[in-house]
Amino acid sequence: MEKELLFDTLWKDYVTQTPSASKINELLQQHGETVKNDHIALRTVNLPEVGIDKLAVLFIQVGYVEKESYYFSEKKLRAKHFEHVSDLSAPKVFISELLLEEFSEELQETVKSFISKIPKGILELDALLVSGRTWGTVSYQTYESLRKESEYAAWLYIYGFCANHFTINVNELKNIEDINDMNVFLKFNSFQMNESGGEIKGSSDLMLEQSSILADKKEVAFIEGNYLIPSCYYEFAKRYKQSNGELFQGFVTNSADKIFESTDLVLQH
Ligand code: NI
Repeated sequence: MEKELLFDTLWKDYVTQTPSASKINELLQQHGETVKNDHIALRTVNLPEVGIDKLAVLFIQVGYVEKESYYFSEKKLRAKHFEHVSDLSAPKVFISELLLEEFSEELQETVKSFISKIPKGILELDALLVSGRTWGTVSYQTYESLRKESEYAAWLYIYGFCANHFTINVNELKNIEDINDMNVFLKFNSFQMNESGGEIKGSSDLMLEQSSILADKKEVAFIEGNYLIPSCYYEFAKRYKQSNGELFQGFVTNSADKIFESTDLVLQH
């Protein structure tokens, strides 16, 4: 698969869960902007058949290389970011995985059980990236019990494999200078920001400023009935130059930690 087709496939799947992302792109285009993507993010668990290294295969095949690793102690996650080897305009890829062994036996069993139901063909064909949920109808009771330990695990149980967010590269916008401008634009257009840790995560000193809207909500059919559940969100990033004059390309753990919460049920208004 070509790189462009890979991202196009992920984007088409993502906007079905995140109508706000298409709306924001349209609004920006009406203001004469061309939207470029800073990074995408994917979520998984640290089981060999679906872990970070497994999800990374397709990206590596189209020229991506592994860069840095990150650890989120509070959320019990590990992540890696990947960059394209030669195309500097290609979006970075951020893949995180839940560290199962740090959770209760009950959570581990639940997660292993739904992951084991993924059809073999999907695992073998690397169709996993946009396969969504392939373990059938979900239970609200299970969702709630996962949420008690990890919003991330609960989200994965409902949505499975897809791009959790795309991220607008604010450096490439003409009329929006920084994240504050971006947030003003979003709020003027009635989008709700993730305010956990403040609307703007990071700083120019940390060489990365980020914000995100709260995830869209989707009606999900559970065994027990239908409930509105946070799906995916849109993120915004502005990068600053390092002392060598090049833009910082990494991620800031404290900021990403708060951004993860964009899909938390408790943050939803
Ligand atoms: Ni992100």
